[in-house]
Amino acid sequence: MKTNIIYFDELSSTNKYAKDNIDKLKTYDVIFAHQQTNGYGRRSHQWFHSKGDNIALSAIYKTKLDRVLVGSISMTISVAIFDVLKKYINNVSIKWPNDILINGKKVAGILIESIVYKDSISYVIGAGININNKNFDSSISSKATSLFLETKITYQIDMITNEIVENIYYHMDNLNILFADNYHKYIDNSILIGKTIVYDDLEYVVRTINHDGDLIVFNEISDEIIKSSEIVFLDIYK
Ligand code: BTN
Repeated sequence: MKTNIIYFDELSSTNKYAKDNIDKLKTYDVIFAHQQTNGYGRRSHQWFHSKGDNIALSAIYKTKLDRVLVGSISMTISVAIFDVLKKYINNVSIKWPNDILINGKKVAGILIESIVYKDSISYVIGAGININNKNFDSSISSKATSLFLETKITYQIDMITNEIVENIYYHMDNLNILFADNYHKYIDNSILIGKTIVYDDLEYVVRTINHDGDLIVFNEISDEIIKSSEIVFLDIYK
């Protein structure tokens, strides 16, 4: 596998750039921005960036359209990034659908977008990882962290970027073979399982996450399947 990281000093968003230029990009191309001025996450949330301190990248993966794979990719990418962070620190966990936490605070966010054309699909696998950040905006500082804040060590961004990129493609290239192991790792490290959450103003307990990456919840009245794309409001309650 030969990955090709394309570096930019500044982009509004690596995912946006990748989508705008998807025709020219191919599998193993990765868009990396030293500064991201308008990075976004799920539900259009803004993604905080501090120049040179964090990783903002979008990895391109083009493949034949296979709906069966779509649900598993989100879990697989979470595990790929989880694995790399785990080399540097314990207490790493996954918060469904694809936030990576250290000591309960968010250290990485993943946003996978896809573009379907005829019988092929292009995935834009966006990952934001807080590495050397010393502080965060007060609006998120109680919920966000970085590797530096947790370990008091300054890291080489390029080295961790390469590890993340290699692991993303290793997992994408072996999606089916590794899926059983990845699924178990995802479940074993998921903080939501067994927790009470609020969904659509009702309380549910999380039973598990199925192979498609959906959250299986229940309460006295009903069992529900929450698709990650459907989430409007979801908060851990207890
Ligand atoms: C989330 O937590 O909701 C996902 C955040 C994803 C942020 C990354 S940073 C690189 C890529 N470019 C973007 O604009 N977003 C993703």
